[in-house]
Amino acid sequence: MIFITGGAGFIGANFVLDWLASGDEPVLNLDALTYAGNLQNLATLVGDTRHIFVQGDIGDSSLLVRLLAQYQPRAVVNFAAESHVDRSIHGPGDFIQTNIVGTFRLLESVRAYYAQLPATDQQVFRFLHVSTDEVYGSLAKNAPPFAETHRYEPNSPYSASKAASDHLVRAYHHTYGLPVLTTNCSNNYGPYHFPEKLIPLMIVNALAGKPLPVYGDGMQVRDWLYVKDHCSAIRCVLDKAERVSAYHPCRGQVQLPAVSGVQQQPAR
Ligand SMILES: NC(=O)c1ccc[n+]([C@@H]2O[C@H](COP(=O)([O-])OP(=O)(O)OC[C@H]3O[C@@H](n4cnc5c(N)ncnc54)[C@H](O)[C@@H]3O)[C@@H](O)[C@H]2O)c1
Repeated sequence: MIFITGGAGFIGANFVLDWLASGDEPVLNLDALTYAGNLQNLATLVGDTRHIFVQGDIGDSSLLVRLLAQYQPRAVVNFAAESHVDRSIHGPGDFIQTNIVGTFRLLESVRAYYAQLPATDQQVFRFLHVSTDEVYGSLAKNAPPFAETHRYEPNSPYSASKAASDHLVRAYHHTYGLPVLTTNCSNNYGPYHFPEKLIPLMIVNALAGKPLPVYGDGMQVRDWLYVKDHCSAIRCVLDKAERVSAYHPCRGQVQLPAVSGVQQQPAR
């Protein structure tokens, strides 16, 4: 089975639903059910024994150790995060706690789990960290999309905390040999999007005849990807990527350039 964190949130829930719609490999889903987590997103899975939901925190090491030992996953996909930029500006503490400390505790538990796996299971095991292209800062007008080689320039407590988690993930490969994958996707839109995010907020306000709130001078440039394309890209990376790589799911395709000397593989 695979072990998903944050699978009751926007992207995680889409991933779990798509995963179980396209195969029978079970999913262990750990989610703290913060304001952003909503089990209604997974209502169609009630009674489906392929989906095991556990309410809990990625920072809870003893819970993680117990779940890993009990379910023996072949991969961990980390969606769990505090993800809203505006909230990170008003209260960065939760972002530091979940995105940095939580990812660190998850990595530590997975490292211990991985160390005791038989060599054949270690060969296939992957830790996939779902990150964001916001770690690269802002795009200039008419600039090409971010690439894996772009310099890290986080501008908000959210993106700084995700950047820190990316660095930890990378370090766990280089220091401990954990097979890690990182995806740095652009903004997503689609089903189960939390209403406070830009696209649903604009739609809901427009339908209600309310003003459409523009951020700053409204000139920021962002790249958008349909959430189901992002989920396909993550499945593709999980399936095909080498042991340590970073990828940008972008515009419905997975670009698979080599990083850190890793061999390039074609997308399916
Ligand atoms: N939404 C986007 O446009 C976007 C784009 C690129 C990358 N990402 C990344 O994708 C991931 C998922 O984003 P999302 O938009 O689905 O976020 P979300 O805020 O909708 O969902 C996050 C989920 O994580 C859970 N969670 C939060 N803290 C937790 C903790 N300590 N332990 C366990 N669960 C916890 C929440 O309950 C929620 O279900 C995040 O890591 C985010 O940085 C998001």
